Amino acid sequence: MHNNEIPVITIDGPSASGKGTIAQLVAAKLGFHYLDSGALYRLVALKAAQSLADTKNYDLLSSIARNLDVKFNGQVIYLDGKSVTDDIRTEECGILASQLAAYPDIREALKERQREFRQPPGLVTDGRDMGSVIFPNAILKVFLTASAEIRAQRRYKQLIEKGMNANIANLLHDIEKRDERDSNRSIAPLQQGADTRLLDTTSLTISQAQDTVLSWYNEICAKTRV
Ligand code: CDP
Repeated sequence: MHNNEIPVITIDGPSASGKGTIAQLVAAKLGFHYLDSGALYRLVALKAAQSLADTKNYDLLSSIARNLDVKFNGQVIYLDGKSVTDDIRTEECGILASQLAAYPDIREALKERQREFRQPPGLVTDGRDMGSVIFPNAILKVFLTASAEIRAQRRYKQLIEKGMNANIANLLHDIEKRDERDSNRSIAPLQQGADTRLLDTTSLTISQAQDTVLSWYNEICAKTRV
């Protein structure tokens, strides 16, 4: 199968919209690979923080992005051979990731690495620009969103479950700031493209959201087979 023919489902959307959860469930259901592209930006942020890199030293930061020693093993993520699965999930890391993600050289450095995840029998991936930049010929592009309040509550639950400190008001503030930065940057901004399907999960359960994505995928497959 030619690489361009391997089916890709992209799920882009704002912070804490549930993209990761839905993307992983859909991937598991279809037996597809899964790429959490945000984790790559978080890993660059973590490595930059560990190296005490100046966040204005673009050459150093893009070299960090290009040379990132990363391994994904199911739910576990390794950086330089050490598990950093929880370390990259802190709000500080998310905020720094969003700042670094606005640098074109860092995005460029991660481009090919993301495309390498396109392997048979298929890929489900989530992020901000998966459908618009990384996999423009994806078979199904979803824009997954929810109200900022619901997203803050979901992120709160997620952090508390991991035993981390969290405060709803601060989270809401961070989410709104991150939305603004991710949507207004000049390169690969978070926007719903004309070729994406909108899925607002404010009042949907996880399983309803998962079923909607799967039914869209099945509908497309049925049409292309005709
Ligand atoms: O978990 P959450 O949705 O808050 O964020 P994430 O998906 O882990 O991504 C962290 C940050 O990386 C985002 O705020 C974006 O600025 C950036 N990112 C990006 O620019 N492009 C992507 N494809 C994925 C993430």
